[in-house]
Amino acid sequence: MIVLGIETSCDETAVALLRGGREVLANLVYSQTDLHARYGGVMPEAASRDHLRKLPSLLDEALATAGVRWSAIELVGVTSGPGLVGPLLVGMAHAAGIAVALNVPLLGVNHLAAHLFAHKLSEPGVPPPFLGLIVSGGHTLLAAVPRWGEYKVVGGTRDDAAGEALDKFGRLLGLGYPAGLKIDALAREGDPTAVPFPRPMIESGLDMSFAGLKTAAVYWRRDHPATPVPNLCASYLEAVVDVLTEKAIRAARRLSLPRIIVVGGVAANQRLREILPERAGEWGLAVHFPPPELCTDNAAIVAACAHHRFTELGVPGSLALTPDPNLPLDGWI
Ligand code: KG4
Ligand code: ZN
Repeated sequence: MIVLGIETSCDETAVALLRGGREVLANLVYSQTDLHARYGGVMPEAASRDHLRKLPSLLDEALATAGVRWSAIELVGVTSGPGLVGPLLVGMAHAAGIAVALNVPLLGVNHLAAHLFAHKLSEPGVPPPFLGLIVSGGHTLLAAVPRWGEYKVVGGTRDDAAGEALDKFGRLLGLGYPAGLKIDALAREGDPTAVPFPRPMIESGLDMSFAGLKTAAVYWRRDHPATPVPNLCASYLEAVVDVLTEKAIRAARRLSLPRIIVVGGVAANQRLREILPERAGEWGLAVHFPPPELCTDNAAIVAACAHHRFTELGVPGSLALTPDPNLPLDGWI
């Protein structure tokens, strides 16, 4: 079965073609970051218009890359939430139009569940149960996944997402937007013990808070303007990584889950990739990071999730989809 996946929930326009639930024939991502860089964050109205502009040509390009005709598509999967309502609507309207024109089923996909499918695409031989750590610019949450299609959110941030905390810190230092990758690189030249940033809420529970960390950075900069930027980056990143690591391990142990799967843009972070497996290993927990191109927003994961819902769970297609900016992962099938 060939599945077309479309993702437009935030600032990436993405189209993918997937065969048999796991063979990625094309996975194209057009990032709008240059468009939003001047605002220091995503501007929803500009994002909607840019998705509308880019999607038709990206669809053609994906078909050409995959060497597939429109008529070969048997199922269309599209992100229906959570995300920005305008951008979601653009992707969903396109997807519905294609499904009608081809007379194939249309399935809405939860963006957070789709992120977890990066693991199914990269390591199909390592099935659930696992603990999913979804950590991106828009989301930071912990989800127990006993089997594909069953998700229980057990913790997450109460305010900023971890990627958002890095991006805000990057803005403070004038590193541009998004700043995660630059902080990652600068941190490698700095001392992670140089600045004693707090580890908010690390002592207990599975919830997190990153907003205070940014405030601590503002005050530190004011009071210690001579602190070298690499030391600041290394120390700030260490605080974020410490919190994510501690919470993920605590959740996996508490729920007796044997492995932790890390997805989302922040999963590309080098320090997290070092520290989490090392500390989780001490508790006998395995950690898996899908390749970065599947961790960040893309449509192959949307197609994989739609394929699973349709073929394994028997969820029927529907043209009556509405975008849900706050679509929860908990209980979503
Ligand atoms: O998943 P993603 O591409 O988009 C969503 O937010 O949904 O994640 C983007 C986030 C941004 O906050 C960015 O700063 C962060 O991921 N990021 C990183 C790295 N690469 C991207 N954070 C830390 N280290 C990285 N190497
Ligand atoms: Zn995402």
